[in-house]
Amino acid sequence: MSDTNKTATLTIDGQSHELPIFSPTLGPDVIDIRKLYAQAGVFTYDPGFTSTASCDSTITFIDGGKGELLHRGYPIDQLAGKSHYLEVCFLLLYGNLPTAKELEDFETRITRHTMVHEQMHNFFRGFRRDAHPMATMVGVVGAMSAFYADSADVNDPWQREVACIRLIAKLPTIAAMAYKYSIGQPFVYPRNDLDYAANFLHMCFSVPAEEYNVDPILARAMDRIFTLHADHEQNASTSTVRLASSSGANPFACIAAGIACLWGPAHGGANQACLEMLREIGTVDRIPEFIARAKDKDDPFRLMGFGHRVYKNTDPRAKVLKQSADEVLELLGVDDNPLLQVAKELEHTALNDPYFIDKKLFPNVDFYSGIILEAMGFPTSMFTPIFALSRTVGWISQWKEMIGDPQNKIGRPRQLYLGETERNYEDIENR
Ligand code: SDX
Repeated sequence: MSDTNKTATLTIDGQSHELPIFSPTLGPDVIDIRKLYAQAGVFTYDPGFTSTASCDSTITFIDGGKGELLHRGYPIDQLAGKSHYLEVCFLLLYGNLPTAKELEDFETRITRHTMVHEQMHNFFRGFRRDAHPMATMVGVVGAMSAFYADSADVNDPWQREVACIRLIAKLPTIAAMAYKYSIGQPFVYPRNDLDYAANFLHMCFSVPAEEYNVDPILARAMDRIFTLHADHEQNASTSTVRLASSSGANPFACIAAGIACLWGPAHGGANQACLEMLREIGTVDRIPEFIARAKDKDDPFRLMGFGHRVYKNTDPRAKVLKQSADEVLELLGVDDNPLLQVAKELEHTALNDPYFIDKKLFPNVDFYSGIILEAMGFPTSMFTPIFALSRTVGWISQWKEMIGDPQNKIGRPRQLYLGETERNYEDIENR
């Protein structure tokens, strides 16, 4: 960040305090308040962090007004159209697009780490079959630190590198195992002759009695879904990973914390909630009823898959996913999918409704992903696990950036205390 030589003047009780202003490469200037409490004896107050930069980063930039998303400067629509997930993983991790040799080496390293320790299979058997796959993933990913302790020392750059490779490589295997366990089918081992997305589809849909033949169009759509979910600045789950990492916790525990946060319906759980909402709406003629509920202040119902904390114009990922939804459903001969018809009509209705226009609510990344995943054969319970495996590279890239920053210190927010002042204990007979 560049020091602007500009300052912000804060006057409290007649006393002025000068606060430095820094300028980013892109986006708004920031006011450096790190010394505010020492200088002025006050905290700032920003629950939900709507106006607060928690860190500096060089990985991803979002322009919410223009609906733009850049990964290391490259627009998401170019990456989704011309690149593929593992190349985007390299970009996010190392900062630049790889040469052909670098990409080949990276893909080989990932491929060679896709299996998990055989004893980890036992973890799944401790869960009920009907456990949500996200519960399984939180537990199993957190337990990775018990099997991969040789890549858990955050102070060793080589161990940090190995942890990144292991997490990117093994998350699809663990997600597929969570799915297989939930449907009572045996685990399917990864294959080194398949690319990342095809391998995931193979591990999910093959059975010992019959190999699943991966359609290249479905594999491409799967890879595109991974790419579109890879990273997204300091969203709730990434901020969770950063805060957990700031205490020095091992990378596997930190990623498990990110998975736990992503599970919420306001965040990564929205793709499951969105498809369940579309199913509840059922037919186009019921859309007005749900639009009215979404506008009713006394009704907690929200249109899942709509709105975003940062995007106030359009979510560029939703535009790409909408194209993929058309391609996949046409390939599968379900382009008259009633859910897709409801989704498209809901989107059209909402985008022309003054309430949604005024509040800048439009489809986000979760609106179309569920339709594609369902068409591929995934149950709704697998939508967020797929989001989690896609986002692992974003979480671990942000973790790597933070751990490597010499200014890194434990995150410890303060508060606006509104509780009781000091009072004395009263014995129970006097209460
Ligand atoms: C993701 O941060 C990220 O980058 C996240 C993500 C990523 O890649 O990591 O992009 C992934 O989480 C996408 C968002 C998925 N969530 C959903 O689709 C759930 C539905 N959306 C909402 O819960 C909401 O829009 C949020 C949580 C996404 C954003 O919440 P904000 O910015 O805090 O907005 P808000 O709750 O302050 O709402 C502003 C107004 C409110 O009305 P008023 O109180 O001003 O009268 O808009 C209304 C809200 O009631 N509103 C909605 C709405 N979202 C907001 N009304 C109806 N339906 C909705 N979906």
